[in-house]
Amino acid sequence: MSTDRENLEHFSCIGHSVSRVDALDKVLGRALYSEDISFPNMLYGRVLRAGIPHAIIEEIDTSAAKAMKGVACVLTAKDIPGINRYGIAFQDQYALAVDRVRYVGEPVALVASETDEIAMEAVESIRVKYQELPVITNPHQALAEGAPLIHEKGNLLLHSKVRKGDVDSGFSRADVTVENTYRTHTVDHAYMETESGIGRIDEHGNIVIWSANQCPFRDRRQVAGVLGIRENKIRVIRATTGGAFGGKDDITVEIHIGLLVQATGRPVRLVLDRQESFLSQTKRHAIEIWTRWGATKDGKLCSMEGKVYGDKGPYAGLGAFVIKKCGIHLSGPYYIPNIKVDSYSVYTNNLFGSAMRGFGVAQAAIAHESQMDELAERLAIDPLEFRLMNALDQGLSTPTGQVFYEGVGIKATLEKIKEVRLKDSSLRDNLEKGTKTKRKGIGIGSMFYGLGYGFSRQDIGAATIEICEDGSVILRSGEVDYGQGSDTIFCQIVAEELGIRYDDIQIVTADTFTTPNAGPTSASRVTYVTGNAVLQASRAIKETFRSVAENLLGEKDLVFVDQEIHSELHPDKKMSFKKLAWECHNRGLQMVQTAWYDNTTNDVDTETGQGDAYSAFAYASQLAEVEVDTETGRVDVLRIVSATDAGKAINPSNVEGQIEGGAVMGIGYGLTEEIKVQQGSLKTRSLGEYMIPTSMDIPRIDPHIVEVPVSRGPYGAKGVGEPALIPTTPAVLNAIADAVGVRVTELPANLENLHRLIREKGEGPK
Ligand code: MOS
Repeated sequence: MSTDRENLEHFSCIGHSVSRVDALDKVLGRALYSEDISFPNMLYGRVLRAGIPHAIIEEIDTSAAKAMKGVACVLTAKDIPGINRYGIAFQDQYALAVDRVRYVGEPVALVASETDEIAMEAVESIRVKYQELPVITNPHQALAEGAPLIHEKGNLLLHSKVRKGDVDSGFSRADVTVENTYRTHTVDHAYMETESGIGRIDEHGNIVIWSANQCPFRDRRQVAGVLGIRENKIRVIRATTGGAFGGKDDITVEIHIGLLVQATGRPVRLVLDRQESFLSQTKRHAIEIWTRWGATKDGKLCSMEGKVYGDKGPYAGLGAFVIKKCGIHLSGPYYIPNIKVDSYSVYTNNLFGSAMRGFGVAQAAIAHESQMDELAERLAIDPLEFRLMNALDQGLSTPTGQVFYEGVGIKATLEKIKEVRLKDSSLRDNLEKGTKTKRKGIGIGSMFYGLGYGFSRQDIGAATIEICEDGSVILRSGEVDYGQGSDTIFCQIVAEELGIRYDDIQIVTADTFTTPNAGPTSASRVTYVTGNAVLQASRAIKETFRSVAENLLGEKDLVFVDQEIHSELHPDKKMSFKKLAWECHNRGLQMVQTAWYDNTTNDVDTETGQGDAYSAFAYASQLAEVEVDTETGRVDVLRIVSATDAGKAINPSNVEGQIEGGAVMGIGYGLTEEIKVQQGSLKTRSLGEYMIPTSMDIPRIDPHIVEVPVSRGPYGAKGVGEPALIPTTPAVLNAIADAVGVRVTELPANLENLHRLIREKGEGPK
């Protein structure tokens, strides 16, 4: 997709902060979340979870539950009509446990009953006889000789490698080296809406499921397999969704709803409560990263190596790709000629690790940005200058040996931070105002993020545009807007291309019966990949319209703008878009166009990890200012300055919203959020114990948008959803180090941990 540079300054809708298509429905309470949907004769579903981390199932006794008044059905693995195996990439999961449970959240039985209370009681009454097995609590234990096998094929799910140059000769040139082990912790997406859905059988006998999901098509495939029916007999629709952040990318409630609807023939609603969501649904992986970096005394990185151990928990989900992506990104947005990284995705009996905003790169950035600051300190170079000296650029190779000749925005984001730092004297003044027990500090965090799936995973976007007889437009795409704003972006693209009003477009998304499969909402791919499909479909219809208008107006130099088509040379030669639509319809022309956009890349080499892994990267840098209380270990984030390379901000206020939300999420990740697991058991059971930032914890956030376009993106756009979060956590950690001289390598930097580190250092204030 080529960027029309000449037009860049003349957009009518692109680059404008139009209000979101879903804004009114949401503020007026009209939007329907799964829990708002109900049907007559509806049943309530509940799931029995294992509650113990690793055991053989000897017996399941459901007789008491089945005998209970008001219980419509009780299902166990033996009631499953199709294949009781699923999973997006590795089919290692069971819809209901067969003879073994591998983590505390494992589903064992399903109940549907007339009320939710009865369903809960019925679940309680099911008796399961377990024979407990040893619990594997970390990847090293899982990989040790003779460790019990969690899956027959072994505990190592995937080993991936990056081999670039020669690290030994690289290190032999190093004047300074920094070596550390970082341990990131398990966190939850903590979306306001837990996993939820409702299903029923329609008048044609099809199973229809409305749920909070990230890809109805992927869910459909997995539901079909377990239910043993064809995909075209299942309709999955995204209900309005209260956040997903990767946690609704794997199946959540859909298979269970499908099974209960199929068994009872009645509508069934299934909503997880918070504790069940914490217990059973996917988490951000705890990852242990050992890494060593070397630089020469003139400030150039010369070598790095690393070992990444990802705690998968019991099943693959998307986790093997998360850990692989972590390894590929471990050297950060810097040019390093010699790199050696090994990444291991390892099964354990902890909670289930899979996708979460940042997808392994959030963890990698904690390591690479800490390493950068430590090296800068050893070399006595300003940390921001040190990053600029080593930043990737056009013509410099990535860790997988890929070279880009455009769109490399990391330097631009760093320059923006530098400019803000220079201009804003309060940033420096504040630092000097610190007291003995309240120390202020600033820190930088940078990142690059491979857009889309990369390394040969299928990455296709799709959209269908239909022009009504009166010139109004219906846009259909299977893509999910779970709150990030993509429905709005798509409408802006159509409005821009056809020169019509944004309000003239009706958008229908994420329904397997009415919209084309656009792949999942993940990997910051939606604007970048499916945005291109919307653009192509719009341009295809525009060509049909153009040829008719050329004929009617007798001019060739036509432009589509302000709901009109006119000649540039003779502006009085014109007609309305509405009239043109009617003319095209009258001629029997094709008023519908579908476009498919394929962003699938090649795979990297298995042994060396070398290859063109991604079609483009996104870039971002942030500065955090913090105040640390040296007596309590409390950290207040005072300010985040963010510079995000959006390529082209199609809707600037939407980009700012992503930056603000991402920064808040990154602060929670770094400082307070933690899902505690002991011996495979969940110790954090409610949002009362799981400390997400509240409005009182949110600092001033300055969201600067930098635009370094990439020609493949629509109008040059890149994804921003994950890049918004990734730099925040390391920027905060580096600011803490600046304030009190202690480096947190084991997250989170909460009161206990920071208080202990400050005490151990024995000096407190610097
Ligand atoms: Mo997103 S974490 O790639 O579902």
